Amino acid sequence: MSAEEVTRNRKEEHVDICRDEAVQARRRYWDDVALVHSALPELDVADIDLRLALFGKKLEAPIIIAAMTGGYPGAREINRSLAKAAAECGVGLGVGSQRAALEDPALEGTFSVVREHRPPLVIGNVGAPQLIRQRGRRPLQAADLERARKMVGADVVAVHLNFLQEVAEWDGDTQARGCLAAIDALSRRLPLIVKETGAGIGREVARRLLRTSIKGVDVGGAGGTSFAAVEVFRARRKRHALAERLGGTFWDWGIPAPVSVIEMRQLHRTFPVIATGGIRNGLDVARALALGATAAGIAQPLLGPAMEGPKAVVEELEMIKAELRAAMFLTGSEDVAALSRAKYVLSGESARWLERA
Ligand SMILES: Cc1cc2nc3c(=O)[nH]c(=O)nc-3n(C[C@H](O)[C@H](O)[C@H](O)COP(=O)(O)O)c2cc1C
Repeated sequence: MSAEEVTRNRKEEHVDICRDEAVQARRRYWDDVALVHSALPELDVADIDLRLALFGKKLEAPIIIAAMTGGYPGAREINRSLAKAAAECGVGLGVGSQRAALEDPALEGTFSVVREHRPPLVIGNVGAPQLIRQRGRRPLQAADLERARKMVGADVVAVHLNFLQEVAEWDGDTQARGCLAAIDALSRRLPLIVKETGAGIGREVARRLLRTSIKGVDVGGAGGTSFAAVEVFRARRKRHALAERLGGTFWDWGIPAPVSVIEMRQLHRTFPVIATGGIRNGLDVARALALGATAAGIAQPLLGPAMEGPKAVVEELEMIKAELRAAMFLTGSEDVAALSRAKYVLSGESARWLERA
């Protein structure tokens, strides 16, 4: 199998496994965040304004459909559903890693389909491991990222950090030296954000990222889809004992998403922060914004609906918006700026994480 075919198959396996298997983290860290109820909200639900501006674009709600797919023929319909729904609901959309289409232009359509529907904000996607030399493969350059950006009409390109997944795979890209320098150099050439994929960004890494010219961060914290878990199921199918063992051992590895948001916000008051990882309803979106996130990202819960079609995605997004509106009402928050000042109580493991040195 060629390197291109390996990438394509892996992408398809990720989608099948995330739809069919139990790949969630064992802990739901967003439940550690209790918003304080206001018995006298002093506003009408009809007046609640969910809108916000992010990366210069106007969204109808502080929600991003987080990066999932592209790069194999079946992904085209998934991205079409997601893009159509994102446009209709006025939320942002991230595409999955565009590496496959950069290697094989025949796959571009599985990503570029999102341009047909014009979501208000589109986020491209490449992997940090591909920015440096891996096993003799040429690292991606600024021109490649520009191609990725144009392919989907992206407003920003996300560089994803997924070293948990890479080290749990038997064939992963495990060279990480030089990624930060590559991100730093590329961030001066085009609009980049950095995005984890389920293991979170802690304050030590956040400090280093804030010295680059990136435009924002998606903390991609623990508590939702676990890519170590995904690798367990891939390894079982391939009968690869070591990968299955590694994935199982690191199933719950990572910094809780709420903790990542708080730490990021403590370092910078206004830097755009997207909270992804275990956001499962509109109350979780409200919790994320109260902790300081600019917007919340949702991936796996939208995958099944996307495979049904755009209508199912719209229905789910509308329910999430209704829950968010309810949480804003019950905290007396008229808009997202007010929600960011809502009072909360942090408990459980997330609270203990913040006691660390
Ligand atoms: C099927 C699937 C494929 C994914 N592929 C990518 C990817 O290519 N690039 C990326 O940055 N994140 C990818 N992710 C990670 C998500 O963007 C997100 O960070 C993670 O799933 C946590 O969010 P969730 O708990 O809402 O699923 C993928 C997630 C899923 C479920």
